[in-house]
Amino acid sequence: MTFASGEDLRWAGRVAHPTKSSARAKEAPKVVRRCFFIVSFSAAAPSAGKTGSLILLYCRTTTNGSGSRLPGEKATLSPTPSTFISAEKISARVRELATAVTTGIPPGPLTVVGVLRGSFIFTADLVRNIERELACDFLTVRSYGDATVSSGVVEIVADLASPIADRHVLLVEDIVDTGLTLKYLTELLIARSPASLQTCALLSKPSRRRTTITIDHVGFEIEDRFVVGYGMDAAQRFRNLPYIGTIDDPQVV
Ligand code: IMP
Ligand code: MG
Repeated sequence: MTFASGEDLRWAGRVAHPTKSSARAKEAPKVVRRCFFIVSFSAAAPSAGKTGSLILLYCRTTTNGSGSRLPGEKATLSPTPSTFISAEKISARVRELATAVTTGIPPGPLTVVGVLRGSFIFTADLVRNIERELACDFLTVRSYGDATVSSGVVEIVADLASPIADRHVLLVEDIVDTGLTLKYLTELLIARSPASLQTCALLSKPSRRRTTITIDHVGFEIEDRFVVGYGMDAAQRFRNLPYIGTIDDPQVV
């Protein structure tokens, strides 16, 4: 029995997080902060023939009242990423991938392993379209830090919560770039004796590969561009965009 439909939940999300609405951005109260800083002060006795001086610096800042920034966030306005793959195209392709996964993985217990943080939205959409019983688990890895070029060193920040021995495993990545992360993770999981292991990536940049790997299910092959949105970030920003976008210069976000 359906308790709350997807539409109900989306409506609740909009009410709880009205920041997504462009109307709210227009309504957001402007907060003007003013302050004075004493930068330099010196004085001497008039009897000695000298005068005093006082320099005041006046600052005026305007914010939309949205609160404090995360570490590394820039004070300047950022460019809005231009649409590279629309939300509609993503959702159609995710449904196709889910069908391929549903039929392509042998019967038996299945664990879908999402690689955090980049794949959290893709994994959530994918599993909702896989029509068979499954468990979800997550691995948190760090390979980029806040940089936009892979360091080539993969660090497991948080491991799986449950064993995968004798279970079919689907490893879900947001994007495969050099392939170093996926190679490291497949070797890590194979060593834990799953019944089978398949990989699924929403995006792949084949021209950037630095290692030989096979991806069983690929959403879109793309050229060498830095993309953001639909879970993917540039220095932790833009993950909440519903589409996949590009930014001209990821260093300037
Ligand atoms: P790889 O090890 O070079 O294949 O990259 C692995 C991870 O880097 C991916 O899972 C992403 O989280 C991140 N990444 C690679 N390319 C991009 C991009 O264009 N935008 C955002 N993240 C990316
Ligand atoms: Mg990733």
